[in-house]
Amino acid sequence: MVDTVKEGEWVLLYYNEKKSYVVRVERGRVFHTTHGSIDLAKLIGLPYGSFVETNVGEKLVVTRTRFVDRLEGLQRTTQVIYPKDLGYILLEAGVGPGSTVVEAGTGTGFLAATLAWYVRPSGRVYTYEVRRDFYEIALKNFESLGVLPYITPKNKDIQEGIEEDNVDAVILDLPTPWKVTEDAASKLVNGGVLVVFVPTTTQVERTLLSLKKTGLKMVEVTEIMARKYQPVPGEFRPHSIGVTHTGYVISARKL
Ligand SMILES: C[S@@+](CC[C@H](N)C(=O)[O-])C[C@H]1O[C@@H](n2cnc3c(N)ncnc32)[C@H](O)[C@@H]1O
Repeated sequence: MVDTVKEGEWVLLYYNEKKSYVVRVERGRVFHTTHGSIDLAKLIGLPYGSFVETNVGEKLVVTRTRFVDRLEGLQRTTQVIYPKDLGYILLEAGVGPGSTVVEAGTGTGFLAATLAWYVRPSGRVYTYEVRRDFYEIALKNFESLGVLPYITPKNKDIQEGIEEDNVDAVILDLPTPWKVTEDAASKLVNGGVLVVFVPTTTQVERTLLSLKKTGLKMVEVTEIMARKYQPVPGEFRPHSIGVTHTGYVISARKL
């Protein structure tokens, strides 16, 4: 049976190797591209792999998305954690199906949504965001990705205390993680992992100092460097522009 596009699904619209778009299929919405606009209702019922035409007759292939593609389609409110760091953080925190994870700040929700995707179907992500406006947009982002059933979003300041106990991992991406590390350590199960993501070396120093008071062990600091290449035979070389710095991943375990 041919699989067709359904309302609410995310699709990737491929124009060429340089330009593609990720969008959630909704009735009543017109999606604008640099090659014309598409009434998204037109996509419903199209077989995956077929073409859709814009209002100016340009053709784009309609294809399935990976989870990481869908993040690109979200409304952004904050700096987000990039895929190269998301993947490492997941493995470093030991997160998998069934894990209980506390995370802050929610921000746009890239990290919380990714965690939710990987703790499914029996795990849970508790995410704290101090700003009401960011919290509300993150809720919409979780809903549109279909991960809200696995997340408990909280419009709270995590510095006022982590309300969960016996958690497998606490992951912090906020400006002052050192104010939360002691509380986080006390809420971890034995073998649980604290992961902190910070963009500057000054923040790494302050976090490391705070970790001394927690009794957490096996401390590591890692910077993930990813370099994208131009995949062109005869012209194979690194791209000349791109993201040059994101941040440092600090991890420590409760023994
Ligand atoms: C860099 S953003 C997080 C981005 C997020 N990790 C993502 O991938 O989309 C940092 C967020 O932490 C929030 N924040 C800062 N201090 C906080 C606190 N004490 N408790 C909860 N959230 C806090 C900020 O409002 C901001 O939304």
